[in-house]
Amino acid sequence: MPKWLDNAVFYEIYPQSFLDTNADGIGDFQGIINKLDYIRNLGFNALWINPCFLSPFGDAGYDVADYYTVAPRYGTNEDLKRLFAEAHKRGIHVLLDLVPGHTSVEHPWFRESMKPERNEYSDRYVWTDSVWEAPENMGCLRALSQRDGSCAVNFFTCQPALNYGYYNRTRPWQQSPEDEGPRATLEAMMDVMRFWLTMGCDGFRVDMAMSLVKNDPDGRGTIALWQKVFNVLEQEFPEAAMVSEWGEPEKSLQGGFHMDFLLHFGPSHYNDLFRCQEPYFSDRGLGDASKFVERYLESREKAGKDGLICIPSGNHDMTRLAKHVEGEEKKLAFTFLLTMPGAPFVYYGDEIGMRYVENLTSVEGGYERTGARSPMQWDSCVNAGFSAAPKEKLYIQQDPAADRPTVAQQLPDPDSLLNFVKQLTQLRQAHPALQNRGGIHFVSNGAPKQALAYEREQAGEKLLVAMNPFREAVAFPYSGKLGEALFTFGGAASQKGEAVQLPPVSAVIYRLD
Ligand code: GLC
Ligand code: CA
Repeated sequence: MPKWLDNAVFYEIYPQSFLDTNADGIGDFQGIINKLDYIRNLGFNALWINPCFLSPFGDAGYDVADYYTVAPRYGTNEDLKRLFAEAHKRGIHVLLDLVPGHTSVEHPWFRESMKPERNEYSDRYVWTDSVWEAPENMGCLRALSQRDGSCAVNFFTCQPALNYGYYNRTRPWQQSPEDEGPRATLEAMMDVMRFWLTMGCDGFRVDMAMSLVKNDPDGRGTIALWQKVFNVLEQEFPEAAMVSEWGEPEKSLQGGFHMDFLLHFGPSHYNDLFRCQEPYFSDRGLGDASKFVERYLESREKAGKDGLICIPSGNHDMTRLAKHVEGEEKKLAFTFLLTMPGAPFVYYGDEIGMRYVENLTSVEGGYERTGARSPMQWDSCVNAGFSAAPKEKLYIQQDPAADRPTVAQQLPDPDSLLNFVKQLTQLRQAHPALQNRGGIHFVSNGAPKQALAYEREQAGEKLLVAMNPFREAVAFPYSGKLGEALFTFGGAASQKGEAVQLPPVSAVIYRLD
């Protein structure tokens, strides 16, 4: 278990939208390097960078054409290596995005695999043995070449599925994970990991980590596959950290992942908090966090104590936090995000409350996700400081609102969301109880018009974190004794007998004696 995860706080960078330093309208590695001090000053000590490899960008780079070469629009492999070194100088670890489930149709492996003559790559992808048969329950590509068969796709049709075998096999063309083809696929992917880890990357966010073995309803085959991967990784790269896009920690952490996300899909009730008609973090008080809390505790119990359950502020696949959580409510959402166990992940721009940009034409296979991927707003210069290119050249248009939030405007303002986030990441770094492996005990479960409150504990330190998003004061039963206030927003709590009362729209952190 990599020690640095004990106190890692991640910042997700969508590289094409962060900072463009050569005026081509697309962000680049140099842009990330230029902003490392900004990121560190905010209190983040780890990064996740979305895919930055050679790609036709039919799905924003999740359609990889060469795992070993970065996309020229971002820079060179040497630039990425420099980014690792510059990040490390500042105490920042860097995760790349590994896409093991599929490639682009342009990947040389796929070009070889499409050939009718058998070759080294014939079994690299999931093929049926006749073009007239489609793989069940999956999309597929048919008649792209003279090979007689249909090739399964993992996501969009530009993403043929790599072959890691089938858990339940009912057709002759379905291979076992132990067969030669699937084993070679896994070995090839391990080599990709070795390449970047050797170059200085600190681990991977793994795209669709749950999708590798097919016909695997309970995930047993995929869990076993990841266990094999981790047996090797732990030997060769014990400090490498891996976070899965899975959304079911009880499975992914069993597979050996160090961290898993709770996401907008899956059973976690994540959306109840931030992304639904009546989110919990709304001052209307109609939202309900209690199902989230219930599922969270179940997952924690089943996942065991070593793995981290990570709650992101958002990501490149969902609408922006600011779409449903408005104004000061965002500060309560961040209080929660930055005081929960597990490593927090903040999506670039959420720290200033960047808005979801409505009605954008889809770019790079984004569809409705495009509005959450608009370029970062740094200042009030042209293109909000993102790029010196003419506005029309920006690869995604920016939030057109005159009052769009920017970093420059929020940095000097002590009441800004940016400084709020900074204050909390610093508090987290200063208090072991708030960090990734600390314990949690809920004392109020965030039912409608109720506080969300929990005790956090580690290394002899014990704190109470409590939030009330509702526009009226609320109280919850509590017999612990509040000590020093470490943090208050919207007013202090008051303790009367066996109850704690919180002012409207407030968040507090107290030491417990
Ligand atoms: C993941 C990525 C998403 C991508 C998909 C296919 O969900 O986060 O952006 O489109 O996988 O790779
Ligand atoms: Ca650029």
